[in-house]
Amino acid sequence: MRSTSGGWPRGGRRRRPTDRRRVLDSAFPAAGGGVGWRKETGVIMASGTEGVLARVEREGGSYLDELKDFLRIPSISTDPQYKDDVLRAAAWLRERMADAGLSAELIETAGNPLVYGEWTGAPGKPTVLIYGHYDVQPADPLEEWRHPPFEPTIERDDKGDRLVARGATDDKGQSYAHVKAVAATLAERGELPVNVKFIVEGEEESGGAAIEAFVREDAGDKLACDCVVISDTSMYRRGQPSLIYGLKGLAYMEVKVHGPNRDLHSGSYGGAVTNPANALAHIVASLRDPASGRVLIPGFYEEVRPLEDWERQEFAGLPFDEEAYRSDLGVEALAGEEGYTTRERAWARPTCDVNGIWGGYMGEGAKTIIPARAGAKVSMRLVPDQDPEEIGELFTRHVRSVAPPGVRVEVSAIHGASPVLIDARGPIVEAALDALEAEWGRRPVRVREGGTIPIVGTFVQVLGVPVLLIGFGLEDDRLHSPNEKIDLACFHGGVRSSVRLLDRLAEAGEGAR
Ligand code: BES
Ligand code: MN
Ligand code: MN
Repeated sequence: MRSTSGGWPRGGRRRRPTDRRRVLDSAFPAAGGGVGWRKETGVIMASGTEGVLARVEREGGSYLDELKDFLRIPSISTDPQYKDDVLRAAAWLRERMADAGLSAELIETAGNPLVYGEWTGAPGKPTVLIYGHYDVQPADPLEEWRHPPFEPTIERDDKGDRLVARGATDDKGQSYAHVKAVAATLAERGELPVNVKFIVEGEEESGGAAIEAFVREDAGDKLACDCVVISDTSMYRRGQPSLIYGLKGLAYMEVKVHGPNRDLHSGSYGGAVTNPANALAHIVASLRDPASGRVLIPGFYEEVRPLEDWERQEFAGLPFDEEAYRSDLGVEALAGEEGYTTRERAWARPTCDVNGIWGGYMGEGAKTIIPARAGAKVSMRLVPDQDPEEIGELFTRHVRSVAPPGVRVEVSAIHGASPVLIDARGPIVEAALDALEAEWGRRPVRVREGGTIPIVGTFVQVLGVPVLLIGFGLEDDRLHSPNEKIDLACFHGGVRSSVRLLDRLAEAGEGAR
C-alpha cells in the first residue's frame, strides 16, 4: 500500500519539495513508532505512550459500555420532538468530560448547547482543539434496522465485531474516542503532553448554525489553538488511514409549487390549469442534463476550481474496485458528469440532487386529481470556490425563469455550508501522519470527500490553523442509513490513535504556529 502513489512520500529529513502541494514538509524523521524518540528532552518517553496504551487495553471494555450509554440517547437534532434527548446527550457528554479530568461546561446558544471541555496545564506546548458532534440523524426507516436504532447491539461476523446503533460512527463513537484518549492519558500520567480543548456541537446534522455563530463571535479567543482535530470521516479502507484535505460545501434548497386552491378532478379541469406536479417535474428536469451529467443552472460552474493534475493522478493511483463499488450499491451502472472518474465526481465536482419530492396522491390505487401543490428538496454539493449563497441565488433565479405560467413558485434556502480545501502541510500535519502510521502501520493517504461538515470552513477562515480531518470510520459504516455501525477495531484504534496523536503533537510544538 505504501508504495502506491496515493500515500504521501515517507517522511525523511526536512526537505524542500519543488511542488509543495505534493510533498509535505517533514520537520522530523518519520518515526516508525519506535522507542527512543524525543529521548533527549525527557519530556515524553516512548514508554509514556505505551503505558497509556496498556491502560486503554485494560479499560477498553468500559469505554465501550460508556459509548453504548451515549448511543442510547436519541439526540436527533433535525426533529424538534427530540429536543430533551439532545439536551440529555449534551449533559451526559459534559459529565464524561468532567470525569476525564477536563474542566467542562455547556455553552448555551440560540439552538442546542455546545459541550466545551479543556485542560490547559501544558504552557508552551501546542493547543489542540478537538471538534465533534453529539447529534445524530433520524433513524427512519425503522423497519430496516436489525435492532432498534437506540439499543446499541454488538454484532459479529468474519470482519470482526461491530457496534450497531444510530450515531455509532457519525459521530458519537468517533468523537468519544478522543474523550477516552484524553481520560486515559490523564489517568495514567496526571497530565497531558499538550493543551486540549473540546468543542462538541449538537446540530451538525441540521446545519450547525449555533456553532457557526459561536466561532465567529469567539474569533479565536476561547478557541485559540495550534490545530483542529476532527474525526467525523472515514479511513480510506480497513487498516488504511487517511487525511482528508477537502470537503464539499452545501446549498440546500426547497421548492414549493402552488396551483389551484384545492385538488381538482383531473378530467373536469385537466388541460385548463397548470398542474403543479407537472410544473415541478419540468423544473427539476431543467436542473441537470442526464446525458452529460452537467448541472444546467446558468453560472453554476463559474467559480469551480478545476481539479489539479496532481490530484487526478493521486486519486487514480488509489486502489479502487469500481465494480465492487457498483454492485455493493445495487445499481446497474455508475453515472455522473462526463470527463470525470467516479472518485473525482464524488470528491471534487459539484452536484445537484433531489433529496425528496412530493405532491398529489401517493396512496394505493388511482385517484384522478390535479394536486393543489407539489414540492421538492434539492441539495447542491459545492466545491471551492463556489459560494453557497451565490449558488442559492443562481438556483432561485433559474427555477423562477423556467417555471411555467399558472403556478406560484416558492423557493427557499434551508441551509448552506462553504466548501473547503485544507493546506495540509507542516510539522503539525507530519506529526499527525506519524501518529496514524504508528497505529495503523500505514502512512495515511491524502484524499477529498463528498460529505460536508459545515463548521470546517469557518474553522479554516477564523482560526487560521491546520484542520486535521482524520476519521476512523469505514466506508461500509452506513452513516445516515439503517444499521449504522462502528467496528470495535475502529473505535479502539481511534482511542489509541488519539493517544499517540497527543504525544506526537507535543513533539511538533516548537515553531508550530
Ligand atoms: N460526518 C458527516 C460528514 C461526512 C460524511 C464527511 C461522509 C465525510 C464523509 C456529517 O455528519 C454529515 O452528515 N454532514 C451533513 C451536513 C449537512 C446536514 C449540513 C452532510 O454531509 O450531509
Ligand atoms: Mn458527522
Ligand atoms: Mn452525518
